[in-house]
Amino acid sequence: MSIPPPSTEIIEVSPRDGIQNEQTLLSLDTKLALITRAIAAGARRLEVTSFVSPARVPQMADAAELAARLPQGNARYIGLALNAKGFQRALDANLHEVNFVLVATDTFSLRNQGMTTTDALALWSGLGQEPKARLTIGAAFGCPFEGEVPLTKLLHIVEQAMRTNPPELAIADTIGVATPRDVTERVTAIRREYPQTRIRLHLHNTRNTGIANAWAGLLAGATAFDASFGGVGGCPFAPKATGNIATEDLIYLLHRSGVTTGYDLGASIETATWLETRLGHTAPGMVMKAGPFPANPAPVGAR
Ligand code: COA
Ligand code: ZN
Repeated sequence: MSIPPPSTEIIEVSPRDGIQNEQTLLSLDTKLALITRAIAAGARRLEVTSFVSPARVPQMADAAELAARLPQGNARYIGLALNAKGFQRALDANLHEVNFVLVATDTFSLRNQGMTTTDALALWSGLGQEPKARLTIGAAFGCPFEGEVPLTKLLHIVEQAMRTNPPELAIADTIGVATPRDVTERVTAIRREYPQTRIRLHLHNTRNTGIANAWAGLLAGATAFDASFGGVGGCPFAPKATGNIATEDLIYLLHRSGVTTGYDLGASIETATWLETRLGHTAPGMVMKAGPFPANPAPVGAR
């Protein structure tokens, strides 16, 4: 049996993926409160907004204003970009990282960002020269329009994308179709080719496989996991897309397995519950409903 590493990183994505598909527009102050609470709960790397068209994603219209008011301290902030204009806006906003998205299938890529995968790769070959540039490959496990994304197809895209030599590569199960076997296979295959590159996993829990996928990814060598408080989230351009894996559910899994994250579970549950009230509907997270176990958990690693 594989042994998990002693620690791993959770990237809080609720301020971006978590709310981008929500009907209720959160105020800038509420978004900043979410980010402040996330940092207080232990988040040190957060995807805070996306620099996309305000007409297409109204929730992200305040990206530049939000960036200007972010609490400064020991947290690193990531902004998402899907085209050259968004990438430049993100650089101008002076965040720590700009995460460019490249979707593995043409149909989804055209709907999401108005360009084919080949065109996005060509754009990335230039943008990827910027030291702050990072890359997420979307629909890396399956596409809502084209169906299966074969491993060979993904590896072909990865091979072209890696020519800019990013220090970390994110692969996203945008529509939550992956199973642990897929995650093990894809993370292992990418690590075999690019052992120096850290792997970030972006998992949605659409078919209830998200937390199992995270565990498989951890054992396969992924080093960072996107998650959102309460498990909120989803892509407005993917039919039936639902939330990310819940931060507090992932923390529970990891801490009870002896893997540290730097997060506090109690504060994370409180933040998930607070976010639920701000969004005005029940969030899908489970540990926020059931509570921690035991009621006063021992320090991580003490078991
Ligand atoms: N930020 C703000 N405005 C943008 C923009 C950006 N990144 N990119 C384009 N625009 C504006 C253009 O200035 C233009 O404005 P105008 O009509 O006033 O002249 C208009 O949008 C259309 O420009 P165009 O170059 O044709 O872009 P597009 O319509 O193909 O849109 C995206 C490109 C990427 C901005 C758009 O597809 C988008 O916002 N997608 C969001 C996808 C998303 O958020 N998915 C979830 C996360 S993966
Ligand atoms: Zn997502």
